[in-house]
Amino acid sequence: EMPLLEQCYNLLDFEGVAKRVMKKTAWGYYSSAADDEITLRENQTAFQRIWFRPKILVNVEKVDFSTTMLGTKVDIPFYVTATALGKLGHVEGEVVLTRASARHNVVQMIPTLASCSFDEIMDAADASQVQWLQLYVNKDRAITKRIVEHAEKRGCKGLFITVDAPQLGRREKDMRLKFTDEGSNVQKGSGEKTDNSQGAARAISSFIDPGLCWDDIPWFRSVTKMPIVLKGVQRVEDVLRAVEVGCAGVVLSNHGGRQLDFARSGIEVLAETMPVLKKMGLEKKIEVYVDGGVRRATDIIKALCLGAKGVGIGRPFLYAMSAYGQEGVERAMQLLKDEMEMNMRLIGARTIEELNEGMVDARGLFSH
Ligand code: FNR
Repeated sequence: EMPLLEQCYNLLDFEGVAKRVMKKTAWGYYSSAADDEITLRENQTAFQRIWFRPKILVNVEKVDFSTTMLGTKVDIPFYVTATALGKLGHVEGEVVLTRASARHNVVQMIPTLASCSFDEIMDAADASQVQWLQLYVNKDRAITKRIVEHAEKRGCKGLFITVDAPQLGRREKDMRLKFTDEGSNVQKGSGEKTDNSQGAARAISSFIDPGLCWDDIPWFRSVTKMPIVLKGVQRVEDVLRAVEVGCAGVVLSNHGGRQLDFARSGIEVLAETMPVLKKMGLEKKIEVYVDGGVRRATDIIKALCLGAKGVGIGRPFLYAMSAYGQEGVERAMQLLKDEMEMNMRLIGARTIEELNEGMVDARGLFSH
């Protein structure tokens, strides 16, 4: 039978339960990644190549790990990243994540391909809650413009343009299990039929513009005042280019291993990026986020030591939601806060500002 929620002691525990209780097709869509899933595994193992250099005899009676992300004050530096098709895991879909986020003062990134409509998700939020929009750019820019303007009007505080998915990756596990068009809130061209033979992801993504390029970024800046963040940056050269075109941030990410297999982990790209930004005096010019494989507060701390402003977490919240609903997601967030408090003490840091690259040994990141 199913373990009690109290028997989930960390984020990885939710995955085991979800695998047992979820519908096979839904599990296939959430857990799958591109090709041989080498990048999927690397996302977690990269963190395991970083070790701590804790400080001793710091008075850590009081620790405070609140910070800001894109100007929003948050209790803890992680956000719920955008993941499509929430209703595959829970009948109510993304609003479950919204409500749990509200309880913990956590920012939620709303996916373009949510099962719930954008307005349903915004309506589920409480007044002080902050949300960002993840954008897949439509070939028809009039549609994209409407979506962006509407998001800004409804109070979204950040625009995350996904740049690692000109074509959706091949997720073979998902393809094998096939997909029956459940609860997707799909943007289609007129008269277009959904082709399910390639799995859930391909079925819903044909509108995405593979022609999107750097020259398009100024246009986004002209249609919105929301800070623009590129999600899916994978090399320092492109981080520098993002600074040049006026982006407020980047997410170093490989889309949870679901796009280019053998893309490096976000945490490794972070370690490549921050020294260059610092050398050029640009580290205050752009906020750098990381996602992929974050499962423990120690992972969050490692990313922050290496210069990240915050991290995104995807699958663990989907699994917690699928297995236990809102209560599950709230527990997952609480577990991260508890882990964070303890590990900040153990590493000898009282505030986020006190975390720095001297507190980690990341040499192992590059020797693999
Ligand atoms: C995603 N991700 C994603 N990203 C995006 O920009 N648009 C999207 O629609 C989706 N959809 C999506 C669905 C599912 C099921 C997963 C697991 C992931 C990628 C996501 O935002 C993030 O980059 C990764 O999930 C981070 O890795 P972890 O935390 O899942 O390991």
